[in-house]
Amino acid sequence: MQHHFHLLKTMAVRTDTCTVTYRYQKDGSESVVTLDGESLPEKLPEHNLLMLALDHGISIATACGGQGSCHLCNVQILEGMAGLNPPEDDELAMLQGAQGNIRVLRLACQSHPDGSQDIVVLIPEDPFKIL
Ligand code: FES
Repeated sequence: MQHHFHLLKTMAVRTDTCTVTYRYQKDGSESVVTLDGESLPEKLPEHNLLMLALDHGISIATACGGQGSCHLCNVQILEGMAGLNPPEDDELAMLQGAQGNIRVLRLACQSHPDGSQDIVVLIPEDPFKIL
């Protein structure tokens, strides 16, 4: 009986995955990174949208190494904004200097997927001019 209960509990473990799709504005091509739901949220601090991209050979500009100060990693979130941590004051101040709709802009290096939903990220041709 006890063994049976253990089996049921094991089967209930979630193995959900979610994806981050990076789309290049330049040519419309896409790269998809799959996140393992079981590894979240423990890995979140390193797994921001910039580091995830760079770890998978996806190119997003950076001059500050992800410190949130160079503004080059500006991206537009096309889907899944609610699956990211909310921006903090420093990031909001940076984004207000960018052209574009601030409600869909993020600094990739300050944005951490929480694994709750799929995210689609547009990598702009010019990080200072997002449509
Ligand atoms: S990498 Fe410099 S602000 Fe994000």
